[in-house]
Order: sequence, then C-alpha cells, then structure tokens
Amino acid sequence: MEIAFHLNGAEVRLDAPPTTTLLDWLREERGLKGTKEGCNEGDCGACTVMVTDADGPRALNACILFLPQLQGKAVRTVEGIAAPGGAPHPVQQALVDHHGSQCGFCTPGFVMSMAAAHARGRRDHDDVLAGNLCRCTGYAPIIRAAEAAAEEPAAPWLDDAAQVRLHPRGLDDLAAAYAAHPDALLVAGATDVGLWATKELRDLEPVIFLGPVEELRRIEAGPDGLRIGAGVTMAALREAMAGPHPALAELLRRFASTQIRNAATIGGNIANGSPIGDTPPALIALGAVLHLRQGAERRQMPLEAFFLDYRRQDRRPGEFVEAVTIPETAPDLRCYKISKRFDQDISAVCGAFNVTVEDGHVQGARIAFGGMAAIPKRAAAVEAALMGRPWTAATIEAVLPAFAEDFTPLSDMRASAAYRLEVAGNLLRRYWHERAGTPVSVLEVAP
Ligand SMILES: Cc1cc2nc3c(=O)[nH]c(=O)nc-3n(C[C@H](O)[C@H](O)[C@H](O)COP(=O)(O)OP(=O)(O)OC[C@H]3O[C@@H](n4cnc5c(N)ncnc54)[C@H](O)[C@@H]3O)c2cc1C
Ligand code: FES
Ligand code: FES
Repeated sequence: MEIAFHLNGAEVRLDAPPTTTLLDWLREERGLKGTKEGCNEGDCGACTVMVTDADGPRALNACILFLPQLQGKAVRTVEGIAAPGGAPHPVQQALVDHHGSQCGFCTPGFVMSMAAAHARGRRDHDDVLAGNLCRCTGYAPIIRAAEAAAEEPAAPWLDDAAQVRLHPRGLDDLAAAYAAHPDALLVAGATDVGLWATKELRDLEPVIFLGPVEELRRIEAGPDGLRIGAGVTMAALREAMAGPHPALAELLRRFASTQIRNAATIGGNIANGSPIGDTPPALIALGAVLHLRQGAERRQMPLEAFFLDYRRQDRRPGEFVEAVTIPETAPDLRCYKISKRFDQDISAVCGAFNVTVEDGHVQGARIAFGGMAAIPKRAAAVEAALMGRPWTAATIEAVLPAFAEDFTPLSDMRASAAYRLEVAGNLLRRYWHERAGTPVSVLEVAP
C-alpha cells in the first residue's frame, strides 16, 4: 500500500509491507540511526520520535509503530529538531548544560520525549519521562534539564500542523470491510500487536488499521452516560476522565508510559482480553456496557459478560468493539494498581472498588480485579457479603474470607497466589481507609 507522511519536514511516499516498523525503516532504509533500538518492545524509550497529527505533537515509540499508522501525519526524529541555522533545540542545549547525558545511548529518546512535552508546554516531567530508561545519569540532571528547557519558548520550526493531511475512514466502511474479511487482524495502537511482530516474528497480514476511523475516537455524553469510542487513546482518556472520574484518570497515570498511552486504545485493552489489562477492572466496577458491532448489526452487554475464559471473549467473527459506556460520575470509585515498579509496569493485581453507602450501610457494591483470575472478574462473594452491612472496619475484616471464595489466583513471576489473595484483602482495607479520609497514595508523602 502507498503510505505518505512527512519526515523531518519533507514529504515521503513509499510502498512497504504494512507491518514494517518505523524504527526499522528509519535505520535500515533511511540511514537515520539517531533513533535507537533498545528493547524493541515499547519499554525503554530509546526509539522515541515525535508524531504530529490533528491533535498536535506527541511522543511515540518507533519500535512498535507500523508505517501505515503514520499515514498523513508528520514525524520528527532527533536528526530533525535543530533550529534552521543548526542551533540545538532548547531541550538539547539544556541536556548539555545540565550534564544530562553520559554514555548517550538513551539521549536521543529523552530528547524526543522532552521536545514533544516542550511543544505542548508540559511540566509534569516525571510522568513525561517515565517511559525513557537511562542507565547512567541517575535522572536528576535530566529532570533539571527538562525544568530549564520548560522556561524557553516553544520551537516554531517544529510546528508541523500544516503538513498534516489525514484521510478519515467511515465507521460503516470499517464495519463492512471487517465483516467481509473476518480473518483480518485489527490494529489500533499496536502496543500489543506490535510485539507480535517484533518479538514473536508473526506474520500478521491481512491487517485493518483502525486509526483513520475518527468516529471511534470520540467521547460523548448521552442519556446512558459517557460513551467512549474504542479508538480513544489512554492519553486522551486520562485527560477526559480527570473531571468526571478522577480515580480512573489517576489509574491511567500508571498505565505504561507517556509514549504507550499516546498510542494504546481502550478498545485494544478490552479486546485483547488480558487478565491483567488495567482498564477492565475499573470499567466493570463502574458498571460499563460494551458495544459490539458486526457489519450493520450492533449488540451490547455488561463488560464483565464479554470475558469468557483465559483470552476468550464473546466476540463473533468480523465483530469489533465500537465503544464502552460508563456513568457520568461515580464519586465512590477508587482504583489501585499493585506492580513491582511504580511507573511503566504491568499489574500484579489491580483492584477497583465502587461501594455505595447510605445511612452508614452498604447499599451497592461493585468490586472487580485484574490479576486474580484468568479474566478480569468481579468479587461477587465479597460484594454479597458487604451488602446491607454497616460500613465499618469490623465489616471489612468480617468479609475478607470471601475473597477466597471469589478467587483462586495463580503464582507467576509477578506475584505468588498467596500474595495476590492477601493484597486483594488489603486493597479493600485501603479502600475503607481512603473513604474514611486517611491519605493512602504514596504520592501524598510530603517532606
Ligand atoms: C511497554 C508496554 C507497557 C504496557 N503497559 C500496560 C499497562 O500498564 N496496563 C495495561 O493494561 N496494558 C499495558 N500494555 C498493553 C497494551 O498497551 C494495552 O493492552 C493497550 O490498551 C492495547 O491497545 P492498542 O490500541 O495498542 O491495541 P492493539 O495492539 O492495536 O490491539 C490489541 C488487540 O486488540 C484487538 N483490537 C484492537 N482494537 C479493537 C477493536 N476496536 N475491536 C476489536 N478488537 C480490537 C487487536 O486486533 C488485537 O488483538 C503495555 C504494552 C507495552 C508495550
Ligand atoms: S526500542 Fe525500547 S521502546 Fe522502542
Ligand atoms: S546516558 Fe547512558 S543510558 Fe542514559
């Protein structure tokens, strides 16, 4: 297929197999070796590039970005960000001034994450750089450089908005194409699929890219609540949920890294059916309704009904996730992710709690977990044990044994079965304490 985009200000037209990654193409076909290959699976940030589309510039990992995902967009690599006269970009100069580079292997990736954040005026440097690993500097000089660069004005020569030429594809067209070719692999952000190509070396064709379907990227308020299109990225969702569902937004801060959140979609997170996907427990606790579509036919179901067994979902050939609906607000929702690292790590256990209390008694309870079973799953026995009881510490202690009725978790490299069961109970305790006003977030620890 012909793919057209801008690279460092110049138009590129090419023909390539649809699962060619930008990283391979840059290094092998264009000789642009500034973009580094570290992990080749989205984890280290060495391959970070800046991609501009209708939503502005953002950092993405080139190692798991397929060339067709760039259609109509503008890409900048580390070779293409200096000022027209050749002067370094403010973030490059700041890294020099603050000694933010030692061996230098990670540096182009840091530069690109920082340049994208600089272009957007972001100052949450820890979050911005959580997906960039450095072995040498200890990070403090890099953060100092980011802080210093943030004082400099945006670089006008990097404004690629005029080069963006997107050709949206209609939702009906997508539905018809997938119904006609149910054997095709849908590719949204490619943050799962990309690894099937780079790590498992699987032949993925035929593929259908969801990126051009603008209707899938909408979040709309309606009579049934907030309808979130399957193509909404984790970054867009995090921003949109900050008001209505701050607990979900906070959970999404811990979803992978900035680069991955800029690509990963909610539809991919649901459809992938991973038992440790982070959004399903929160969505199930919210009482989310899943909207599926096959050709012209639509159906819907409670999200928890979609997950049948390990990596097996209630999805027919040619059927795709169109959207998910959640209530407009749910002030009692809290989500807790337990992982070995705070940033950029997959959950060992992820618990989401939504318990309604009236007159001191539990009137409603939706509690769901990832990492505790082969699928994201509700804690039905715990919910039943809570119903009608006084919302007290004694009740929490009394219902804890019900977790063993709900879950028989596995031991794996992330956690043992015993740890998982214990931590699930502890998260319910934590929820009770948080509702009682006790600070529970590690980010609230003040000097
Ligand atoms: C470094 C790294 C860190 C990660 N960290 C986390 C994390 O912290 N938490 C977490 O939950 N996940 C994490 N992931 C996994 C991944 O980012 C998520 O599962 C993501 O939401 C997948 O979305 P995507 O758009 O990239 O899906 P894709 O990779 O494009 O697709 C994934 C699967 O879903 C299917 N699919 C996609 N969209 C649809 C649709 N609309 N309808 C039907 N099927 C569809 C695809 O065919 C494929 O089978 C991480 C991945 C990486 C590489
Ligand atoms: S090479 Fe590590 S994130 Fe791409
Ligand atoms: S400077 Fe060596 S890895 Fe960062």
